[in-house]
Amino acid sequence: MNQEIDFKNIRINYKKSKIDFNNLQDCPIALFLDWFREALRINKDEANACVLSTVSTNNRPSSRVVLVKEINKEGFTFFTNYKSDKSIDIDDNPNVSLNFYWRELERQVRICGIAKKISASDSDNYFNSRPRDSQIGAWLSDQSLSVSMDHNFMKDLDTLQIKFEGKEVERPLYWGGYCVYPRKVEFWQGRPSRLHHRLKYSFDGERWSKERLAP
Ligand SMILES: Cc1cc2nc3c(=O)[nH]c(=O)nc-3n(C[C@H](O)[C@H](O)[C@H](O)COP(=O)(O)O)c2cc1C
Repeated sequence: MNQEIDFKNIRINYKKSKIDFNNLQDCPIALFLDWFREALRINKDEANACVLSTVSTNNRPSSRVVLVKEINKEGFTFFTNYKSDKSIDIDDNPNVSLNFYWRELERQVRICGIAKKISASDSDNYFNSRPRDSQIGAWLSDQSLSVSMDHNFMKDLDTLQIKFEGKEVERPLYWGGYCVYPRKVEFWQGRPSRLHHRLKYSFDGERWSKERLAP
């Protein structure tokens, strides 16, 4: 079926950068922010896109892209519908993973951590900063529920536009942020001949330690 696609020969020789193992930062967030700034210079629209993986109560993993909207020394915050499948997974099992892949830099960052809902006031602050259409969009759907094939979301949107006309759009209580508190952060830099550079930080509850991993 895939005879016309030459999968075996899809490969590149990574060579753009390296990790200087003799000169490392103590905190992975500081290094992450350095890499993130570089990624933003190249892809300012979606450098904050990452794959979030969760595990359901019956141990089924699931991955999807989300946009990280805040990074601070505590962790990485994204926003979503608290009734969505990912949120149901997180309610049962807060162990999650985030994966950033910055192709242009030949870099990947893998983060394992614990996801916790942020405070209602922090979610309000972010919600109030969103464009009005996005605010209304948060009221639009029960994310991840099944709908009929001919469901007309434009009609729902019109109804909501009328409902909120001349009024501030408040945050639905089922929409807000999660902060992922990192426990492990691994930086991967592609290198020639598959001799990639890997650096892993682990948090023991008090401080970060670091180790180099074989490619
Ligand atoms: C580039 C991109 C950015 C996305 N950003 C978000 C986001 O920040 N929050 C979100 O809930 N879904 C986001 N999505 C949609 C999710 O990938 C997913 O379809 C949705 O959240 C439902 O996932 P779930 O059913 O596993 O909960 C994004 C998708 C893409 C492709």
